[in-house]
Amino acid sequence: PWRLGRCVLTKGAYMQFAAILAGGSGVRMGNPNKPKQFFYLGDKPILVHTLEKFCAAGCFDGILVLTPATWVQQTKDIIARHCPQYADAVNVIAGGAERNDTIMNAIRYFEDECQADDASIIVTHDAVRPFVSLRIIEDNIAAALAHGACDTVVPATDTIVESLDGELISSIPNRSVLYQGQTPQSFNMRELRETLESLTPEESAILTDACKAFVLRGKKVALVRGDVSNIKITYPQDLRVAEAMLEA
Ligand code: CTP
Repeated sequence: PWRLGRCVLTKGAYMQFAAILAGGSGVRMGNPNKPKQFFYLGDKPILVHTLEKFCAAGCFDGILVLTPATWVQQTKDIIARHCPQYADAVNVIAGGAERNDTIMNAIRYFEDECQADDASIIVTHDAVRPFVSLRIIEDNIAAALAHGACDTVVPATDTIVESLDGELISSIPNRSVLYQGQTPQSFNMRELRETLESLTPEESAILTDACKAFVLRGKKVALVRGDVSNIKITYPQDLRVAEAMLEA
């Protein structure tokens, strides 16, 4: 049962953990010295906006931020400076080479350091989606509990055109059954670990999406309604949009 409009579910039956994925280098953003999650949005780094959403939710037994190894200490300093009230509740460790390696580091941490068990839920979220809402986080936890895995999506607005050779259209799927993936993606933690561990090196190389690994293994992934405002900051243009959204 929800309590006080927050996702404080029956504590004790299971534990809920959040992994803020900030281990990327932001190549498409164009600054090789600073990954985009550390760019300022308004008066604080993007990562801080995102982290505050998860801390304010008040429903996690552990919140972990995963960054490039060289940014771990700086991230701890950033959290201490911008949201000192959350500094004790959040830990920062190094992510991995690929997004799923970062997720695996989070799972190992929660299992080894936080007594995560077979019933535990993990909510994984892109650090560069700072406009995630409490409603989306709550719906993720509920769907992960009910179905074992879930993905946050919005209905596709553009027609999606498939081309296998990059020159000619091979198909145009019916847009009414297409969605655009966002995050969070949330899972039963043990299921997620087993699924990621089951991937061959060839499968791992083409999979940057944990939900896709579930689908590949024939496992159910439920849809959670996302929001068009839950944008991902990928290019400089996205940061300008985010600034405008923040002001609005
Ligand atoms: N991410 C991560 N660990 C990785 C790669 C990505 O935690 N090894 C995170 C990023 O920090 C980001 C999220 O996954 O918050 C979504 O990835 P994306 O937008 O592709 O980020 P980058 O990989 O940093 O961007 P680019 O592809 O432009 O380098």
